[in-house]
Parts: sequence; structure tokens; C-alpha cells
Amino acid sequence: MAQIIALASGKGGVGKSTVSALLAQAMAARGHKVLLIDCDIGLRSLDLILGVDEHALFTWADVVLGRCSLQQAVMVCRENIHLLCAPLQPERALTDGVLRQLVQTCRVYDVILIDAPAGLGFGFRMAMKAAARCLLVSTPDPVCVRSVSVAARQALRLGVKDVRLLINRFDAGAAARGGLVALDDVIDQTEAQLIGVFPQEPRLFYRNANGAALRDSPVVRAAARVAARIDGENVPLEF
Ligand SMILES: Nc1ncnc2c1ncn2[C@@H]1O[C@H](COP(=O)(O)OP(=O)(O)OP(=O)(O)O)[C@@H](O)[C@H]1O
Ligand SMILES: [Mg+2]
Repeated sequence: MAQIIALASGKGGVGKSTVSALLAQAMAARGHKVLLIDCDIGLRSLDLILGVDEHALFTWADVVLGRCSLQQAVMVCRENIHLLCAPLQPERALTDGVLRQLVQTCRVYDVILIDAPAGLGFGFRMAMKAAARCLLVSTPDPVCVRSVSVAARQALRLGVKDVRLLINRFDAGAAARGGLVALDDVIDQTEAQLIGVFPQEPRLFYRNANGAALRDSPVVRAAARVAARIDGENVPLEF
């Protein structure tokens, strides 16, 4: 059975999709077969980030509503990284439990990463009900920290067993100048155990998040460390 991990935050634009793509590469580099599921109905982005947008024909909604097979909908982005796109618009027939049923049928994967949308609505619930573990992505600013602390409680309420905190866009210079919420305070306020810190990476924009251009970057190394921790290795925090 695959490890099923949702990435969420409550607040929008904090890097959930970017982190999902980076983590997929890190998990694939460890030899895992990874399925990314874009859960952002109407505002999907992983097809663009992974550079397969022009080939996107079917979505996971087409699979659960019987319009195509899983094999037809899954897009091969690169070796060991596959993607299921989100539907472009809401569908009445979808319930917030459908993704949970779908992931049970994706047996060939070692890791399934579910990229949740902003907010705590339908897409968030769908992702949480499907996942055993949730990585809450927070930037170190008070507005995001508050949204992540609310999202953490909701995730637990929706049955996620293991809720972890992943701090994104950390800038050591800004932190030293007192411009960010201190990491200890982010951890205290969200009440979630820290799994990793992704640095601010000026070269990171959407097309670069597919990994090809950023092999030497600290953010790629941070993703590799989080992937190792997900696999149960004891890797020290570095930032
Ligand atoms: N560590 C980082 N360093 C620099 N830029 C980053 C980093 N992480 C994400 N970004 C940038 O932040 C922006 C938002 O990222 P992304 O779309 O992944 O966020 P999101 O949380 O998925 O957004 P949404 O809530 O709309 O789904 C993008 O321009 C992305 O390149
Ligand atoms: Mg996103």
C-alpha cells in the first residue's frame, strides 16, 4: 500500500504545488514510484509546473465518474513521476470521499502526493479524507501561521493520523533582521512537528519547480532531506 500524503495550508499561494513537485522529484530520486494528484478543482497547476499541460486529456474526476480508465488519465511526467490532473470545473456527482476510494485503486505506487487547494473547503476535505499523513506548508509570516494552525486542527478532525509542518520560503537574512515569525514560534503556534524547512529560492518559478534547472539548489537538497525523513531516516534539520 502506498504512503498517501496530502500537502495543504489553508492560505493560498504559499508553495503547496511547488513543494509537491519538488518532493515528488526527491521521492522519485530515492527510487519510489510517485503519483501526484492535483486536487485544486478549477485552478490546477501541477500539469503546468511539470510541463505536461499540453497533453492533459483526462482528470481524476473522469476516472471516478467512469469516463476513462486510471491508465488513460495518468500522465507520465518523467521516470517514476506520474500525475493525475484536477478537473477544470466542479462536478456535482463528486463527493468529498471520492479521492479516498480512488487512491485505494492506485496500487502500483509507493507514494501518492495530494496537492490540496487553498482554503478549508471541499478540496481540502477531499484531500484530508484520502491521506494518512498531511504536510502543512507554511511561510514564516503571521497570516499563514494562523491559517496553518486552523488547518492542522481540521486535518486531525477529518481523520489524518500524522500532521507535520513544512516551513517554506525561509530566508535566513530576513529572519536575522527580525522580519519573520521565529521558527520556534511557527512550530508552537501550529502545534505540528516540523518535518523540514525549504529556503527561499530566487530561481524558483513555476517551470523551474519541475526540477531540471535546479539540481544544485538548497531547496532541492531540503526536499531530499524531507523525503528521507518521510522514509523514516533520522536526518538533522539544516537551514
Ligand atoms: N521556496 C520558494 N522560494 C521562492 N519562491 C517560491 C518558493 N516556493 C514557492 N514559491 C513561489 O510561490 C508562488 C506560489 O507557489 P505555489 O503555486 O506552489 O503555491 P500554492 O500554495 O500551491 O498556491 P495555491 O494556493 O494557489 O494553490 C510561485 O510563484 C512559486 O514559484
Ligand atoms: Mg497550488
